[in-house]
Amino acid sequence: MVGDYRRDGFLVVPDFLSPGTCAAMIERAVQITEEQAPMGPRSVFSTAVQARRSDAWFLESGDQVRCFFEEEALAADGSLQVETGRAINKIGHALHDLDPVFAAVSYDPRMREVAAAVDMKDPLAVQSMAIFKQPGIGGEVGCHQDACFLYTEPLSVTGFWIALEDATLDNGCLWAQPGGHLDPLRRRFRRKVGGGTEFEMLDARPLPPPAELVALPVPAGTLVVLHGLLPHWSGANRSSRRRLAYALHCIEAAAEYPASNWLRRGPGLPLRRLADGPPAV
Ligand code: FE2
Repeated sequence: MVGDYRRDGFLVVPDFLSPGTCAAMIERAVQITEEQAPMGPRSVFSTAVQARRSDAWFLESGDQVRCFFEEEALAADGSLQVETGRAINKIGHALHDLDPVFAAVSYDPRMREVAAAVDMKDPLAVQSMAIFKQPGIGGEVGCHQDACFLYTEPLSVTGFWIALEDATLDNGCLWAQPGGHLDPLRRRFRRKVGGGTEFEMLDARPLPPPAELVALPVPAGTLVVLHGLLPHWSGANRSSRRRLAYALHCIEAAAEYPASNWLRRGPGLPLRRLADGPPAV
């Protein structure tokens, strides 16, 4: 198993979560959007324009549970084009420490076992997202390496992406470049001195074209582990079926996490080790 991961940069673990656990996470994610989306600002998440669009709602969400809207859910004047439940792109970015349903899955001993199987020594849970990929309007997530957004020295970020609903070719499943993690980090998304964010170029070679990516359609309950340097992508969802996924990102406790990373936390919610088990929430 670890041999496949070292060769490909990803690992598919079928039946990681039971249908009942997936259903509970879906129910909770939808509940959060119903409770919170009407209260917050209509902050859009779009990977296409992330440097320009990063607002305070996004930049200060590292220790919060916040909703972000689909770009296509909002009209030019900011009014909603669809009902609120269908308008949310994702919830981020501390579900794993603040919500009991997501905490139980994130800190389950089996998650720690998979992390150990892909060579993580002492994983810290740094970020989590419930990604909706809404029917009809779920936006594309452009080809990227996760280490661009969660940079450590040495590089250590590892993604644990779980399909809570079937991810298919039609509704925006993951695509990845097998072996692409052996190439260097191309750029880094960081806080700019004086405010805002920017991409810092580290290596000029381009990310792979779509023809070099393979599709990873997986049924609900499947865990896909992604190396932090692996180029991956998911397309827009023009189908009538939602594709809700939960993503947890971990870094090595011993790695340096620069303050210039976009994602940061206040002193009230320090990062926790997977080995700590679920927090009392
Ligand atoms: Fe990613």
